[in-house]
Amino acid sequence: MRAVWLLLLLSLPGSEGVLVEVPRRVNGMVGNPVVLPCNFTSPYTGYTTFEITVIWKVKTFYKGPVLFNSTNRARNEEGFENVVHTNVNGRYRLAGDPRQNDASLELRSATLEDTSQYFCRVEVKRQGLPPYMKETNPGVILKITGPPIILNMFIQVINATQFTLVCLVRGEPAPNILWIDPQRLPVNGSNTPVTRGPGKYQVVGELHGPKLGGNYTCKATNSQGDVTHNIYFAVVNEDRALLKVIIGSITFIRETRQQPGSSKYWKVKPKSTAETACTVPESPPDFNKE
Ligand SMILES: *[C@@H]1O[C@H](CO)[C@@H](O)[C@H](O)[C@H]1NC(C)=O
Ligand SMILES: *[C@@H]1O[C@H](CO)[C@@H](O)[C@H](O)[C@H]1NC(C)=O
Ligand SMILES: *[C@@H]1O[C@H](CO)[C@@H](O)[C@H](O)[C@H]1NC(C)=O
Ligand SMILES: *[C@@H]1O[C@H](CO)[C@@H](O)[C@H](O)[C@H]1NC(C)=O
Ligand SMILES: *[C@@H]1O[C@H](CO)[C@@H](O)[C@H](O)[C@H]1NC(C)=O
Repeated sequence: MRAVWLLLLLSLPGSEGVLVEVPRRVNGMVGNPVVLPCNFTSPYTGYTTFEITVIWKVKTFYKGPVLFNSTNRARNEEGFENVVHTNVNGRYRLAGDPRQNDASLELRSATLEDTSQYFCRVEVKRQGLPPYMKETNPGVILKITGPPIILNMFIQVINATQFTLVCLVRGEPAPNILWIDPQRLPVNGSNTPVTRGPGKYQVVGELHGPKLGGNYTCKATNSQGDVTHNIYFAVVNEDRALLKVIIGSITFIRETRQQPGSSKYWKVKPKSTAETACTVPESPPDFNKE
């Protein structure tokens, strides 16, 4: 892992003697597990009678919500056991052995919402001796990236003759959007604005005033992969305005495993194909009233 280790010293009471270290940043991918590394030293190394509690918090130093809380202790002369007190949504587990000074946390199946700062806290306690406690500050910043997903595609009716094709995409980094017209040519510039939102990690791509009838393709791309989705646009003729919408898609996800030496591969995941046909009334409501 490419990580810069940071030595963190805190002058809290009872903190002398325990050092806790985390890297400054860790990157992960949507759907993959991620390890937040954390290691420590304690003056009690060599004793078996002390307990090591590992706690991970998120967002805010010291006061942030606890995601994970587990105590490692001796188990009737046959090794040690981890007793887990808190494990929010069962998504976390120790990635190493606290007896080996490893307090790393593994997070199962990352999502974009996991992007945050995480704080590793280690408490070392031995009967009759003052406890040692230390929490990293700053914590480790986790950044999750993911390939684009097309959430929705639809035709917005501006008026009886003006339409906009809309493609709503989610992904991180923010995806680029390219429109391909029914003749398989990319659609040029100013008619295809892209804006951020409405939700987090979302972008909206628009194609104003499609001229041709047929399948238009929205292609969303970022560094993690790309996805395409088609929408069928029927040219509106004046006698009978018929709007038929066919939506189908194929998702290409480029998976980049984080372990060094592993190979990259492409996964082709056919998505469900929805077909919708709707007839626009011959006199669309209100459009021509003026
Ligand atoms: C944590 O691990 C790193 C890398 O192995 C090491 O350089 C550092 O000394 C360790 N820190 C502590 C507090 O054990
Ligand atoms: C961790 O769990 C122990 C045992 O339930 C509890 O006493 C302690 O207060 C917890 N620590 C935190 C920071 O939640
Ligand atoms: C439809 O909207 C476009 C652009 O806003 C405008 O130029 C056009 O005149 C409108 N047509 C009708 C029939 O309202
Ligand atoms: C945009 O239009 C110009 C001229 O019409 C053309 O040369 C260019 O290739 C087009 N670009 C794309 C991306 O279609
Ligand atoms: C549009 O795409 C659909 C499948 O999504 C296909 O069945 C249909 O033939 C295409 N229409 C045209 C005009 O290319």
